[in-house]
Amino acid sequence: MNTKIIREKISQLTDETSGKTLHTEGAIRHIGIDAEKNLVILIIAINKTGGEAEKKLRREIAQIIKLDLGFNGVKIQFEEKRKIDSITNRKVRFIIISSGKGGVGKSTIAVNLAYALTKLNQKTAIIDADIYGSSVPRIMEMKPEYPKATSNKKIIPLNQYGIEIISTEFFTEPGKPVVWRGPMLHQMLESFFYQVEWNQNLDFMIIDAPPGTGDVTLDLRNIVPTAETMIVTTPHLAASHVAIKAGIAARQLKQKVIGVIENMSYFLNPVNGEKEYLFGQGGGEVVAAQLDCELLAQIPLQQPKKHLSLYEPEEENGQKFLELATYIMLYQN
Ligand SMILES: Nc1ncnc2c1ncn2[C@@H]1O[C@H](COP(=O)(O)OP(=O)(O)OP(=O)(O)O)[C@@H](O)[C@H]1O
Ligand SMILES: [Mg+2]
Repeated sequence: MNTKIIREKISQLTDETSGKTLHTEGAIRHIGIDAEKNLVILIIAINKTGGEAEKKLRREIAQIIKLDLGFNGVKIQFEEKRKIDSITNRKVRFIIISSGKGGVGKSTIAVNLAYALTKLNQKTAIIDADIYGSSVPRIMEMKPEYPKATSNKKIIPLNQYGIEIISTEFFTEPGKPVVWRGPMLHQMLESFFYQVEWNQNLDFMIIDAPPGTGDVTLDLRNIVPTAETMIVTTPHLAASHVAIKAGIAARQLKQKVIGVIENMSYFLNPVNGEKEYLFGQGGGEVVAAQLDCELLAQIPLQQPKKHLSLYEPEEENGQKFLELATYIMLYQN
């Protein structure tokens, strides 16, 4: 008995969550035969796992395999189609920008890093996962608008300066705060990964995470276990103390910590050319030492010349972000 007959027999069954046959859905992902035990092993991708449709298919398949084809049994692994085909299964590097405290410049760094990677010809996208405090559209100087959908109902991300972006702000009324509870938050975050038609050739996905170590951090861990984390702190020891917690949380979740970025490190006094340490010194070093990773950059306070929050390569901070982007491109997991 070969797998072709098995495929022919089961491919006419219907996945009731989509109303289509397994054949038209391309749902049969693997067929194996354990000759010794006379068993069939299947991996089937359906629209929604865990429900009645799955149970029904399981019964129907077992009947075909055992009664019609005479095998001793069948092992079926059902997987969710949207998850299999999602960006999380592609060769993309996911980089979570994380911090303990709010207001340390996480979003500014996420966006400028994406901008610098794009300047280095890397196809880059941003997920604004700071669902309550979404600020990526503003930093990117975008007019939030409702994204369009593809014919198969996937969301088309907005594009600014060659960077694909998805943010909660595109789906909410302007100026109105998001007041969702946990499950809705979770669904929104999942849809950013599974329901968006991201560019097929993305190199990097930068994720602006909310401050702290709450639900979203855990959800991200489940959705993209391969994500790497960068920790942002300011030089102030109060900020670094909390940043360490974010780093430890990432470690506990078995996420790779690439390194630490110290933001607002100093202000370069234009009159005498001296560095003024407005928020103290040493925070970045303390965090890097505690987490046993590198302090990747110290970014000074600087008002961007051309944009609201984006730095161009010819600006000092723009240079810093290009260096950081280069480091990340070369960084080996
Ligand atoms: N290096 C810098 N030089 C000057 N201003 C900066 C710098 N980094 C951040 N800022 C400014 O500091 C403010 C806070 O930055 P940002 O919104 O990026 O922080 P955040 O950590 O994402 O905050 P939140 O916790 O609210 O999401 C913004 O107004 C931003 O423009
Ligand atoms: Mg932010």
